[in-house]
Amino acid sequence: MVRVGTLPMRLLALEYGADLVYTEEIIDWKLLRAERLTNDVLGTIDYIDTTDGTVVFRTCAEERNKVILQIGTASVERAVAVAKMLQQDVAAIDVNMGCPKDFSIKGGMGVALLYDLPRAKAILEGLVSSVTIPVTCKIRILPDLEETVQLAKELQSTGISAIGVHGRTKTERPRHPVNEEAIAKVASALHIPVIANGGSQSITRRHDVVQFARRCGTTSAMVARAAEWNCSLFRADGPLPLDDVIRRYITLSVRYDNSPSNTKYCVQMMLRSLQESPIGRRLLDSQTMQQICDIWDLGEFCRETQLKYHHAGIKGRRACRPRTLSNEESEEKANESGQVASKKQCLEENDQNQSAPTPLLQNNICFIRSNFPSDNDLPKTKLYTYATRNGLPKAQYEVQQKDKLFRATIEFGGQRYSSSFWEKNKRFAEQGAALVCLLHLGVEERSALIANGAMLPEKESTAAKGDDAAKTGTIKAPPEINTEMLPKDECLQNNGQSVAEDVPT
Ligand SMILES: Cc1cc2nc3c(=O)[nH]c(=O)nc-3n(C[C@H](O)[C@H](O)[C@H](O)COP(=O)(O)O)c2cc1C
Repeated sequence: MVRVGTLPMRLLALEYGADLVYTEEIIDWKLLRAERLTNDVLGTIDYIDTTDGTVVFRTCAEERNKVILQIGTASVERAVAVAKMLQQDVAAIDVNMGCPKDFSIKGGMGVALLYDLPRAKAILEGLVSSVTIPVTCKIRILPDLEETVQLAKELQSTGISAIGVHGRTKTERPRHPVNEEAIAKVASALHIPVIANGGSQSITRRHDVVQFARRCGTTSAMVARAAEWNCSLFRADGPLPLDDVIRRYITLSVRYDNSPSNTKYCVQMMLRSLQESPIGRRLLDSQTMQQICDIWDLGEFCRETQLKYHHAGIKGRRACRPRTLSNEESEEKANESGQVASKKQCLEENDQNQSAPTPLLQNNICFIRSNFPSDNDLPKTKLYTYATRNGLPKAQYEVQQKDKLFRATIEFGGQRYSSSFWEKNKRFAEQGAALVCLLHLGVEERSALIANGAMLPEKESTAAKGDDAAKTGTIKAPPEINTEMLPKDECLQNNGQSVAEDVPT
């Protein structure tokens, strides 16, 4: 499930008893522009977007034989290229032929493939003949039952190993009843395993999954929304209270450094109607991992883990640089996780600095909107007030955009200020640079910025120099970090993933 099926949720489902887990659908070109990196600190394999350093797909040994990579594709060549690139890291490849969303259909992907059988078959045949791992696909039913059976048989003829069938047509919504009879018809007509899907409305525990599969005449069932709501439904001993599930999910999110925005989204999906409760409100207001963890009394664990990862060189979004990770550059300076500035980038920055008209002071400070409840407290407003009070000319902002990232430089009082944190939008970049300026003017306290997550605490050696421009060494796990999976109920040791709009803590 998009946004839900990231590493922590997949591991949680496996821990609770699911046999196999799917990734969220990942569009082929997103994977093709990613670079595969081994992250020794987290013990993961990361596919990093080379344009902005964000994680497209993160996986680990624990799920190696159980994770199915689902791709969105309309192209044989791209699908095959993706499958060849990733087959060493996943158990199987699935092609999504069930997504009814506009963006999918317009791109010839998802449900569009059900109405373009030659292309659908060519993609599956291309995959089956090019990779050594099983290939599967997921379809929706067609309005006509016989046509659905015929379609499934055609797809089966490509040599795929199994087929997922969501018992709704492309126009039916999740609230519509699932057509179990149609799934059963397909299952009885095929010789490969059929995986029944669409039964979440009747599923709250493992027994319900088994019953759903039985009614559909299949040997397996795939559960989406019910697992999103309470993943512990897979447990043989019955589901756990939601609070326990949330705590375990957050623990795994910290352990695998999942992005705060993704973690927050998944917990919101679990809370459902409880989003209006006091806890739900706190979650809504949270923006950092620390803030999320504090709600479930995991604050200390989060602080400790993030500090360890920080000392080991993991800087998450803080290390994102435009085009940081291109192949030719990564050999030179990037560490295994690719989370440092490339040689070219460093040179560019040095060059810029040398030719700059005025000296540049920079710190790695990010702008976290929730730290500023009132607009009057916003860094740019504060800087404006400071200038007015001291009879100084207003600060001049200049914003630089590279790929999808932004960085601002401020000229104020004969000095230039910038944050080495590349923000996802122009406004945030300006606010971040204003924070750097306010720090050097003594208006903002370093300790307060560290406490609210805008800055990371510095290592002693760099603290003395007073310059934290994110240049790091290799990411190798220090001995105190146990990169093994934790025993199920011992939460406190673990943390990764960066996506758009994230803040890095
Ligand atoms: C938030 C959300 C994200 C989804 N993402 C995907 C996806 O990435 N790939 C996919 O095949 N289906 C996706 N689906 C559809 C589900 O996999 C599933 O087919 C559908 O919800 C019916 O199954 P259920 O009754 O168990 O929820 C998504 C559904 C939801 C609600």
